[in-house]
Amino acid sequence: MNKNLSNIKKSKYLLNKGECIAIPTETVYGLAANAYSNTATSKIFKLKKRPKKNPLIVHYSSLEMLKKDCDLNKNFFKLFKKFSPGPITFVLKIKKNSKISKNVTNNKKTLAIRFPKHSLTRKLLKMLKYPLAAPSANISTKISPVSKEDVKDEFGKKIKFILDGGQSKIGLESTIISLINKPQILRLGGMQTSRINKILKTNLKLSKKNKKIAVPGQGKVHYSPEIPIRLNAIKPKQGEAFILIKKRKLYSKNFYYLSKTNNLKEAAKNLYKTLRMIKKKNFKSIAVEKIPNIGFGEAINDRLIRSSKY
Ligand code: TXA
Ligand code: MG
Repeated sequence: MNKNLSNIKKSKYLLNKGECIAIPTETVYGLAANAYSNTATSKIFKLKKRPKKNPLIVHYSSLEMLKKDCDLNKNFFKLFKKFSPGPITFVLKIKKNSKISKNVTNNKKTLAIRFPKHSLTRKLLKMLKYPLAAPSANISTKISPVSKEDVKDEFGKKIKFILDGGQSKIGLESTIISLINKPQILRLGGMQTSRINKILKTNLKLSKKNKKIAVPGQGKVHYSPEIPIRLNAIKPKQGEAFILIKKRKLYSKNFYYLSKTNNLKEAAKNLYKTLRMIKKKNFKSIAVEKIPNIGFGEAINDRLIRSSKY
């Protein structure tokens, strides 16, 4: 049997037993469990050391299954048609008779859902009779994992299984949009806001006012490599790693490039990988050159600001 297929079957077996395992997605790796099960989802919180009040995103591969859990509206269908499967998460009204575990929603009336694009995870979801609750597969507030090795780095032997799907293509979490009343962007991420605005004919920006309340997991400190980060740096100080947006002729051992050619999409993909690499090299601090605040640069800056609050 092909290795991927046997790994998918192993994943299915473990998930059906109520275990939590890591799965690859196009954004970052997720720590997944049966979203209908209280015991399975409680393992996610324990392993991740995640506060109970922070709700989880639920991953689907079929609209039929989703319809049982959420009320779907016009804006949802517009965006779904264009962008799903892909790096966009929708916050919707949860149905009263939905089987989603109360752990997932923290007893709230809304549910964050998405259709991930990674082919292995899509195959896995199609084989299951339930959707998968999955936050990013890192210890709470730490850097999100974009490869099997990163997940191992976070959990060591505590994790039962990691479905290996190579490096995540996008490398940043999904964009979160609430479609409960007026659409609101709750988290910047892998889907550019400008593309969403084009479809909805709106001019949405990250909703700053309600951010803290509406997205409980977007606290100040997040994505942290656990060493100080200095933003908008012109040059590094003694002993600092220096993150640059594009490759320079000038090279020094402590220089880390996010892209070859000033490409913000490529930079987003390399951000977490680079932070993790620097952390392992035992630098005392990190300097980051100014990143243009346009396109994917907005999401990169959002993450860097949070990781600098350590
Ligand atoms: O790309 C992603 O979205 C990844 C992959 C694994 O799918 N997942 C991810 O999950 O980033 P997590 O748990 O690391 O971040 C989810 C964020 C949290 O900040 C959480 O508070 C917020 O989504 N969230 C979950 N349910 C919500 C809801 N009903 N309303 C508002 N925010 C919600
Ligand atoms: Mg996370």
